[in-house]
Amino acid sequence: MEVVHTIRELQRLADAERSAGQRLALVPTMGALHDGHLSLVREGRKRADRVWLTIFVNPTQFNDPKDLAVYPRTLEEDLAKCEAAGVDVVFAPNAKEMVPEGSQTRVEVGELGLPLCGGTRPGHFSGVTTIVSKLFLAAKPHVAVFGEKDYQQLAILRRMARDLNFDVEVVGGKTVREADGVALSSRNVNLHPEARRQAPVLVRALEAAQRAVASGERDSRAIVQLVRREIDKAPLARIDYAELRDPDSLGLAPAELAGPALLALAVHFHPPQDGDGASVRLIDNRVLYP
Ligand code: PAF
Repeated sequence: MEVVHTIRELQRLADAERSAGQRLALVPTMGALHDGHLSLVREGRKRADRVWLTIFVNPTQFNDPKDLAVYPRTLEEDLAKCEAAGVDVVFAPNAKEMVPEGSQTRVEVGELGLPLCGGTRPGHFSGVTTIVSKLFLAAKPHVAVFGEKDYQQLAILRRMARDLNFDVEVVGGKTVREADGVALSSRNVNLHPEARRQAPVLVRALEAAQRAVASGERDSRAIVQLVRREIDKAPLARIDYAELRDPDSLGLAPAELAGPALLALAVHFHPPQDGDGASVRLIDNRVLYP
């Protein structure tokens, strides 16, 4: 496995692989790798000859400096996991390499970036699209794999590839879950143990909504109320958003569901009053099919 730190070097490798007729899959990450990331590597392997993974904690997508400061950084362990998973190249640039001083150009996101995480994390998605564009231009992949847990991010990146004519197929990888249903996330390690015990309320809320729809509930408001009641059972949980949206446009779902609807959740888990640590925001989603 090769570990590369500069864009130039990565571009040269990409050119060599492409001229040799190799198909490249890229898995962009912010490190602190878990089984969810490794399943994206396997997804890439199915679709390409080479799998490259990038590790960069992108400062431009954090709207909260505290969140950036506590984001886990575990490069040594990450490299060992990549090696074991058969990753061919890891790109691990520093911040100056990815965001040189004086950078002025950003990729802005339109309507898909306004609701949900775009509403509560201003500037987040343009930080993501700018850095992912740079990763595409550096690694020149044929296919790029992103987790479906970040549903809105995946929708935005698919749209960006189309709008800007990136010759990259953007593919989603299934959410991987712990035994208790909590979606794997690099942020889970920052949860206070009591908050971690309460975190399954997210998946329970998604399942409650799915059951309600399966038994004929079509009223959007009633479904969202049911979801909120479920999450409110966890005393350390504070809802950031719980919304039903159109799975393609991300516009609000109709009052009476007639087709598939995305149920998207973001919830802050606070430490207990006498406990240490910061609050951690988790997201999860499910598409409901009436
Ligand atoms: O999903 C992530 O880990 C990040 O948003 C990404 C796509 C690697 C861009 O920094």
